[in-house]
Amino acid sequence: MTVLHLRAAGASLVLDARGGVPAIIHWGADLGDLDETALAALADASVPAIPPSSIDGPLRLSLWSSLADGWSGRQTVEGHRQGVPAPAFRLVELHDQNPTARVRGESADGSLELTTELELSAEGVLRVRHVLVNRGVTEFDLAGLDIALPIPADAAELLDFTGLWAHERQPQRAPLRHGVWSRESRHGRPGHDDAFLLMAGEPGFGFRRGRVWAVHLAWSGDKRLVAERSALGPGALGGGELLAPGEIRLAPGESYETPWLVAVFSETGIDGLSDRLHPWIRSRSALRLPRPVVLNTWEAVYFDHDLPVLSRLVDAAAEAGVERFVLDDGWFTGRRDDKRALGDWSVDPAVWPDGLHPLISRVHAAGMDFGLWVEPEMISPDSVLAREHPSWILGGASGPTWRWQRVLDLGNPDAYAHLRERLAALLTEYPIAFLKWDHNRDLLTPGAAHRQTRALYRLLASLRAEFPHVEIESCASGGARIDLGILELVDRFWTSDTNDPLDRQRIQRWTSVLIPPEYLGGHLGDATAHVTGRHSALGFRLATALFGSAGIEWNLTTASPPERALIAAWIAEHKRLRPLLHTGTVVRADAADPAFRIHGVVARDRSAAVYALVAVGSPSTALPPPIRFPGLDPNRVYTVRPIGPAPKTVQDTPPAWLAAGEVTLPGRVLSEAGLATPLLAPEQALLLELT
Ligand code: DGJ
Repeated sequence: MTVLHLRAAGASLVLDARGGVPAIIHWGADLGDLDETALAALADASVPAIPPSSIDGPLRLSLWSSLADGWSGRQTVEGHRQGVPAPAFRLVELHDQNPTARVRGESADGSLELTTELELSAEGVLRVRHVLVNRGVTEFDLAGLDIALPIPADAAELLDFTGLWAHERQPQRAPLRHGVWSRESRHGRPGHDDAFLLMAGEPGFGFRRGRVWAVHLAWSGDKRLVAERSALGPGALGGGELLAPGEIRLAPGESYETPWLVAVFSETGIDGLSDRLHPWIRSRSALRLPRPVVLNTWEAVYFDHDLPVLSRLVDAAAEAGVERFVLDDGWFTGRRDDKRALGDWSVDPAVWPDGLHPLISRVHAAGMDFGLWVEPEMISPDSVLAREHPSWILGGASGPTWRWQRVLDLGNPDAYAHLRERLAALLTEYPIAFLKWDHNRDLLTPGAAHRQTRALYRLLASLRAEFPHVEIESCASGGARIDLGILELVDRFWTSDTNDPLDRQRIQRWTSVLIPPEYLGGHLGDATAHVTGRHSALGFRLATALFGSAGIEWNLTTASPPERALIAAWIAEHKRLRPLLHTGTVVRADAADPAFRIHGVVARDRSAAVYALVAVGSPSTALPPPIRFPGLDPNRVYTVRPIGPAPKTVQDTPPAWLAAGEVTLPGRVLSEAGLATPLLAPEQALLLELT
């Protein structure tokens, strides 16, 4: 066999598959064009010394780590057959179809077959997964099948995420010492505290500096992301599905396929990760652009569904320039509050005597399309469905309810068929362009997450095949199910349940490291945020909701005429800018003063850009450091102009360039020297357009 070299866009992966057990001997910066002799020499050169008190042969982190081969760190295959643990694997076959490779191995007794697929995309994004087949004559009980990729010793600092409802994507850093850093999710959905993207980089790596390696698991169920370093030496980054005891038992002939581990390397900090991930996600996506501006009724009316009230909201939305009107929770039979009726997916005749037709006609007449909220995977104990089919409740009536609801067992074929029929009936009866697909509780049923997640994927795929015009938004109490597994099947994420712009600045900044902004729903909310009670200026709320898949979640009929005029102007501006915002390169600056954040989007050809200077607090000096604009073409000349409502400032006189209304300078100057910073009041944002 051979030494494989996958190369793309400045990234390289070298796999030593010369026999025995394959091992990745390099994942990181491009090693250049290496011929067979050079690759063999590289592989030879990476064979380590044999230390004292060790096995009597070279030991390395392989693709299939096993104690039986001397590796005492985390194991690739965990499981047993009648009490006998999984044996070691030996390479039997290699398919090399650059940029993809497939390596197949077998256990010595031939009872297990393990195949690993590796793909390096044109953007330098690596995807890896294993497939395990039981070739034996008895059951194999699988406890875990993880992917581990080597990281160098200088990747010594970790960054990942935690969070809670309405406060997703809180970054946390830690040094990678000896031991295992395992971020595990047992929610049956990734959860608000999802590790999301586990990064390991050179200490102090930032948005624009430092080498970084990162992994994400494209899976919407239970999972773990892991960083490991030990006294053995080689460090690893990886992960896999978190399996409960007994959850995966492979009968003879059966197989288990892991979710894809998506892995990225950057030489230029966190922005360099996004700059590979976003173009890669876009290259695989069928997302329809431009993304329509949405009005969602949730924080506007909650459960108070009333046709005359909603009709006035439809008119106000259309007048402002909204393109999609989404009717949120509260439309189906018996759903007057959040304590009942999930599962009874027919339009409530008491509230909607003529069905949703009058509302949808009004929406269409106003020039918008129509979207509807559903929460298909759930069932309320207080529902007709639960009373008629108690056996369809996952885990039965045991265990706690959560938001007064339980989970519908999608692994039950009858429950699945019924749900699919109900959703198809709605999509057939009504001209629905968009489903907001919610999921408001953890499963809390041990051993159910795998089956439930696979069934969800099957359901989404089959609905999309039958109703290809219907877009779907993944929502899970806000952003508790944002991952690249479900992204294959949806068109939008509800990023968070908070519309508070201050919290949203952080949540959007970090969620968009992985997910391109056009997928991330961001809505203009009420002046007093419903979730936090914090009061925010309209300009700050507008600037915060400008960059993603924009929308409104506010009863516009209560807005004043000047507010409505500003909102209409903002929507017009969003429509003008969205071709750039939703295709460009997302950039963020490492702020010199933590009171300020700078983020922006630069056109792929770097001919134009939009930036936001955001004050999240008060500056620590009277004269804060200049605004420097990341990502520009150093050799182009740009004119910088403010756009949108003028923010409130705390300054006697603005910086001279801003007072003049614009400034024209080369990209190199704007990136390196920058512009004097206007003294924004806390919780204000200044939008700048560069042409
Ligand atoms: C949780 C979602 O995240 C909200 O946006 C809203 O749709 C409610 N559920 C409705 O119950």
